[in-house]
Amino acid sequence: MDTLEVALGARSYPIFIGSGIVSDSALLARAIIARQVLIVTNTTVKPLYLDKLRGALAAPSICVHVMNDGEQYKTLETFAAIIDSLIDAGFHRDACLIALGGGVVGDIAGFAAACYQRGISYVQIPTTLLAQVDSSVGGKTAVNHPHAKNMIGAFYQPGAVLADTDTLATLPSRQFAAGLAEVIKHGLALDAEFFAWLEEHIDAVLGLDAEALRHIVRRSCELKSAIVAEDEHERGRRALLNFGHTFGHALESIGNYERWLHGEAVAIGMVLATRTSIALGLLDPAVADRLEQLLARANLPTRAEGLSSERVMEIMQLDKKASAQGLSLVLLNAIGAGVIAPAPDAGLLRGVLETGLRE
Ligand SMILES: NC(=O)c1ccc[n+]([C@@H]2O[C@H](COP(=O)([O-])OP(=O)(O)OC[C@H]3O[C@@H](n4cnc5c(N)ncnc54)[C@H](O)[C@@H]3O)[C@@H](O)[C@H]2O)c1
Repeated sequence: MDTLEVALGARSYPIFIGSGIVSDSALLARAIIARQVLIVTNTTVKPLYLDKLRGALAAPSICVHVMNDGEQYKTLETFAAIIDSLIDAGFHRDACLIALGGGVVGDIAGFAAACYQRGISYVQIPTTLLAQVDSSVGGKTAVNHPHAKNMIGAFYQPGAVLADTDTLATLPSRQFAAGLAEVIKHGLALDAEFFAWLEEHIDAVLGLDAEALRHIVRRSCELKSAIVAEDEHERGRRALLNFGHTFGHALESIGNYERWLHGEAVAIGMVLATRTSIALGLLDPAVADRLEQLLARANLPTRAEGLSSERVMEIMQLDKKASAQGLSLVLLNAIGAGVIAPAPDAGLLRGVLETGLRE
């Protein structure tokens, strides 16, 4: 098992990564000391992992809240139902909430923990690759508003993250690939050596080799934790983690959040951001080929055929990261060297989109 730390002073917390963690009673007893525990999970994850986890927990009072499965349930209504469960169980301020599931469960359970009695402790037990390499670390919690994703939320750090790589064995392959997009993003924007490692070992990763899985989760968590420790509230460097996301969010929105999974839209977004960097003369053109080859081998899309570049441009202006000074984008100076830059002029962007969306 690997142990990392997210260094945030008094709010620092450990990330445990390895095999068999969901049923490791000794580790759970170390990470969860509360007497009252509410496990939040969903209808898909419950039959797979709830009994294992529950059987290994030592807390005298354990309740379970099972939510419906899906992004469409990441709402204020589900949030309120979790709060109802906490109140009905008579939970105090020293209770602990456990998020057992993917990013949806993690985001909503974290937000409930942030709000219940002005904040109780919570632990993330992420069961998707995306949640293990990205959403469970860093303390961004939220629910969606009917008109915009993640509009209601808080920065609220967990007490621990327990990433059991065995749980990835039951993940549908499309969801696994979507998580890989964020792993590739970490290499591309932050760590050239990791990107090269992925090029060499992608087959072992896709074959769910235990050592390879542990490596991608550990390296992703190391890279993300270092940035979160420096810039918890995304006033600067944390925005590098949004590489490919401004384009990606626009595609997700145009596709009505149905055509692509988040990671798939980010994969196409990374191709577009890479091509923008090349068009600006910042980046060696060979990087686009390397990226597209790696994404294709990881079973991720690299093109968004049939989209209007004008529509993408329009939506990008509405992106929440567009500030009063105008849109900014994460671009690349080299593999591993992401940089936050003002968006280039519309003509250049349109040109990149026109080739990138159709070719
Ligand atoms: N907080 C953050 O920093 C952050 C970062 C990125 C994404 N997010 C959020 O994360 C969410 C996406 O997370 P996600 O990709 O994990 O999606 P998800 O939570 O919807 O999980 C994907 C699917 O996999 C199922 N599942 C989960 N674990 C499984 C397992 N081990 N075996 C089989 N099936 C399993 C889920 O029930 C679901 O059907 C979005 O709401 C997004 O906004 C948050």
